[in-house]
Amino acid sequence: MITPASRILGTGHYLPSIVRTNADLEKMVDTSDQWIIDRTGIRERRIAPEGVVTSDMATAAAKQALEAAELKASDLDMIIVGTVTPDMPMPATAVFVQQKLGAGSCPAFDLSAACAGFIFGMSIADQFIRSGVMKNVLVVGVELLSRVINWEDRTTCVLFGDGAGAVILGPAGGATHDGKPRGLLSTKIQSDGLLAQSLMIPGGGSVAPMTTELIEQKKNKVHMRGQDIFKVAVKNLYSATKEALDMTGMTAEQVDWICPHQANLRIIDFAATRLGVPKEKVLINIDRVGNTSSASIPILLDENLRSGKIRTGDTVAMCALGAGISWGGAIVRI
Ligand code: ACO
Repeated sequence: MITPASRILGTGHYLPSIVRTNADLEKMVDTSDQWIIDRTGIRERRIAPEGVVTSDMATAAAKQALEAAELKASDLDMIIVGTVTPDMPMPATAVFVQQKLGAGSCPAFDLSAACAGFIFGMSIADQFIRSGVMKNVLVVGVELLSRVINWEDRTTCVLFGDGAGAVILGPAGGATHDGKPRGLLSTKIQSDGLLAQSLMIPGGGSVAPMTTELIEQKKNKVHMRGQDIFKVAVKNLYSATKEALDMTGMTAEQVDWICPHQANLRIIDFAATRLGVPKEKVLINIDRVGNTSSASIPILLDENLRSGKIRTGDTVAMCALGAGISWGGAIVRI
């Protein structure tokens, strides 16, 4: 039997209050409510108001997670923020979260793995807890994608939304009523740089430093080859979940819930069918929040823990894929 090193002590999430519906988008670009629902499953998404920045959303989610874990900010040994929409290129958004939480001088850093950022963060946190170096690690997935979307590009602007989700990972302990250990049972993370060009914000870095011309050409916004990502997402979400399950010796049938990254309902349906998991076990909120990239899984997880749908002792399989491309899977017993 697997002996987990870490477990989820608390979760939280934050969604901004502004709702942008498909009807709103019909007024902005040549699209329709029906097209968006049929091709993606999205009905509305949340947009952060002017003045709200990435670290504000991350801090709100982190505060909820700390409260749920019954911990203080000063109890944190490390802060990891998965994001591709930081407050600024330097310093890390994680240090602004540290400042806003009033946490001590623990290491705080960002990691860039796009939609897979949260799973990468969990995997890294687990290694530090496993080694005994760290005890309580805050892992946040947060994105303010509305500021890097080209709102004139119908192939991307209908997909994304803003939000944050947070988890506190701490040392494993406790067992379910039938004696199974609670905790993070496995993580599997991977990247394939050969597909880097499929999804990127091409301007603003060392390749193409920010200029007025670059901004006019919208090179500081998301560019995506949607179909390339679609194909690889179905394949890799399946393989990441399967490989993470194999590491635990479990089958997909033994999992209570699949908590997948919410990129496209069709991608999720195809991957779940390949895994042989019935629809009732697949958690979904893409209709209400769209694709919030690294925030997607922790938001979905927290919503379902707070509603009581996911209960103590349940086994949850998480999987995500995004720009990089980077992808991963994780199996956790709550
Ligand atoms: N409204 C209406 N028509 C549209 C829209 C729209 N919003 N967007 C595209 N179309 C049109 C296209 O122009 C095309 O028209 P044509 O046939 O006349 O050329 C037609 O619809 C079909 O376009 P496709 O690209 O073939 O549509 P598809 O079914 O592939 O759906 C989508 C597009 C939703 C983007 C899909 O490919 C997808 O979800 N891809 C994966 C995206 C993703 O998962 N990204 C994840 C990572 S995000 C991250 O890491 C931050």
